[in-house]
Amino acid sequence: MNDFVLCAGTANPALAEAIAQGLGIALGDVQVERFPDGEVHVQLFQSVRHKPVFILQPTAPPVDTHLVELLAFVDACRRADAAEIIAILPYYGYGRSDRRNGREPIAASMVATCLQAVGVDHLLLVDPHTPQIEGFFDLPVDSLSAAGLLCEAMRAHLPENTVVVAPDAGRVKMATDYARRLGLPVIVLHKERVSGSETHVTHIVGDVRDRSCLLVDDMISTGGTMAESVQALLEAGARPDIRLAATHGLLLGEARKKLSRNEVREIYVTDTVAVPYRDWPALRIVPVAPLIASAIERFVTDGSLHDLS
Ligand code: R5P
Repeated sequence: MNDFVLCAGTANPALAEAIAQGLGIALGDVQVERFPDGEVHVQLFQSVRHKPVFILQPTAPPVDTHLVELLAFVDACRRADAAEIIAILPYYGYGRSDRRNGREPIAASMVATCLQAVGVDHLLLVDPHTPQIEGFFDLPVDSLSAAGLLCEAMRAHLPENTVVVAPDAGRVKMATDYARRLGLPVIVLHKERVSGSETHVTHIVGDVRDRSCLLVDDMISTGGTMAESVQALLEAGARPDIRLAATHGLLLGEARKKLSRNEVREIYVTDTVAVPYRDWPALRIVPVAPLIASAIERFVTDGSLHDLS
């Protein structure tokens, strides 16, 4: 492999360490500290001159804090004359703000503008909320999918009569991908959003009676979407044998309370963000480090990322 540096911000140090171990390298020698007024200070203790630098930082909650830290990291690397700066965002915060609804910002685009302005040369994402995020950048963006890892982890645990369920129309493509990988049919729920944390299922397209269900989504944030979907499936006659899968397990606020019910047998998430619970019996955390380590390895050996996920 060519000489390169892998640095990490503070958003998910365990993932950074696992990726470094997978690559058989040590993480870059850096320090991130906060001044008393809350400002972030990043310092590189090793030279990155003329080397590609990978910076791992999911912009997970607290999103603004982690984002500004990433910007500071990129700025430090650019000023230290890195040959190329590759930002790895296993979770892209503000991804859900991808279109305008009246007088609103398109925050996903705003983040792209900031990352480009400070000097990111290349982006590596894992299951961004929508593919159009790539279009907010005028530089190469590679999106990896965790579906392969999640499907392999779940495959042996799914009852024969399982259907894959998309919790809304926006997830049909993702659900179809899971269904193809698992050889299962797809059902679609239609939901309307009542508020930032409240949704309501209006229709179910397909028959879930006496079927076990696997609900898939890109993220579980407050758990509202999944909880509402579980309830709708049970009311429509689904078996009390439901599994949930999502790439990003943010699991904020009351998510654990909302999803801790007997009918929800297992919840599969990856560790793209630092998952807050290790003591939740139903929670299965699937490591995403092998996928990201392979992407880095191919990147530095000029290999293709096409068939990675
Ligand atoms: C929405 O479009 C997303 O794909 C997720 O369904 C949603 O963001 C999950 O958020 P929550 O867990 O708060 O319902």
